[in-house]
Amino acid sequence: MTATPCDADQGLVGALERVVGESFVLTDPDLRAPYEVDWTRRFHGSARLVVRPKDTDQVGQVLRCCHEAGAAVVTQGGNTGLVGGGVPDRGEVVLSLTRLDDLQEVDTLAGQVSVGAGVTLARVQEHAAASDLHFPVDLAARDSATIGGMIATNAGGIRVLRYGSTRAQVLGVEAVTVDGRVLTRMDGLVKDNAGYDLAGLLTGSEGTIAVITRARLRLVPRLQHRVVALLALDSIEVAQKTLRRVRTAMPSLEAAEVFFADGLDLVLEQTSATAPFAAPHPVYLLLECAAREDPTEELAAALEEVEDLLDVAVGTDAESRARLWELREAHTAAISAAGVPIKLDVSLPPARIGAFLARLDDVVAAIEPAARSIVFGHLGDGNLHVNLLGADPADYNLEAGVLGLTTQLGGSISAEHGIGRAKVAWLHLQRDPTDMAVMSAIKRAFDPDGRLNPGVLFPRR
Ligand code: MLT
Ligand code: ZN
Repeated sequence: MTATPCDADQGLVGALERVVGESFVLTDPDLRAPYEVDWTRRFHGSARLVVRPKDTDQVGQVLRCCHEAGAAVVTQGGNTGLVGGGVPDRGEVVLSLTRLDDLQEVDTLAGQVSVGAGVTLARVQEHAAASDLHFPVDLAARDSATIGGMIATNAGGIRVLRYGSTRAQVLGVEAVTVDGRVLTRMDGLVKDNAGYDLAGLLTGSEGTIAVITRARLRLVPRLQHRVVALLALDSIEVAQKTLRRVRTAMPSLEAAEVFFADGLDLVLEQTSATAPFAAPHPVYLLLECAAREDPTEELAAALEEVEDLLDVAVGTDAESRARLWELREAHTAAISAAGVPIKLDVSLPPARIGAFLARLDDVVAAIEPAARSIVFGHLGDGNLHVNLLGADPADYNLEAGVLGLTTQLGGSISAEHGIGRAKVAWLHLQRDPTDMAVMSAIKRAFDPDGRLNPGVLFPRR
């Protein structure tokens, strides 16, 4: 363990200032404010202070000081999380990792790269592309979301159907324990069965068992040729049938996203995007294929087989592809511009998606008649983002109704956003008592006093 100045008799603020420098300990309420509220504005709280270390050694010293002071810590990356897992609740120390932005040289032989937890997704993507490689996780918040946060939440995004979620790209991590010890598994060995897979365990642990400071990431070959098609369809059943056909015909398929007429209306209302078709349609399926050779003709041939195609728009160059993607990716911002949403991120077995959508509005109306739902998501993964507008964001009855419907239909209450603070009360719908007891035992083994992200994933003690 690194020697620290913690036992100086200046209290926690003074000790942390000695570790990271005065300007990186924020106690002023105005400076703390952006760290105290999440992107949706639904989750907010107060922080005792915000501390911004620059490297793993400083993170170790910060955690050791907090440990000695008995202070609880909430770790924060780009603050793009949607379940309240990265914002303080009741006076915790916010440990912001955005300064851990070191990007190592790409190891082209291994097809890997080591990066700091605070590096944004967009920077990793650009860095890999400069070596003709590709980091295959992608999501709309790419310019702000950090790799540490993406690992902590096992972020999914738009390319999971081809490459898997963040967990599938993590070959190693470095993390700091609650008392400041550094745990390093950064070898990047593809095969390494020496004991428990701690990197796998830390992935998706939502900052509750250790603080991830660096990661060793898998990169894949960069595919230069892409095509995007936006299909207008009559129903979710037709969208699923179409997707099954395209998926079978085209191994180059890497995204299959769904949105509906009401979501597109909102996007057109709230942004400068333009309507893709002359008339609105009930369901939109956005497909992207990427390959070494241009996949446009192959996709056109696959779509010729599709009955009930109401309309189609195709993007082959970067600009037209981006225009079609904007219609899908702008949903999050358009919804937030219309109000503070209750965001429920669920996944369902493909055979139950139709039943879920058919019952959703009745479930919502029975709890809060003033609420309306806007749904979009990653159809290829059975992942729907249910956004409820017009309801009191502090009212959790809608969560209970929609998550209850999800588990009744065999789905998951959290597909890719995590449990955070938002869904702690409903984890029991999904995990049985033995499962919950094993998870609690793991938490206690790493963090016996419950000081890392209290109230996240587990109820507050
Ligand atoms: C998305 O798929 O765009 C993200 O999960 C964000 C969201 O659900 O709003
Ligand atoms: Zn998503």
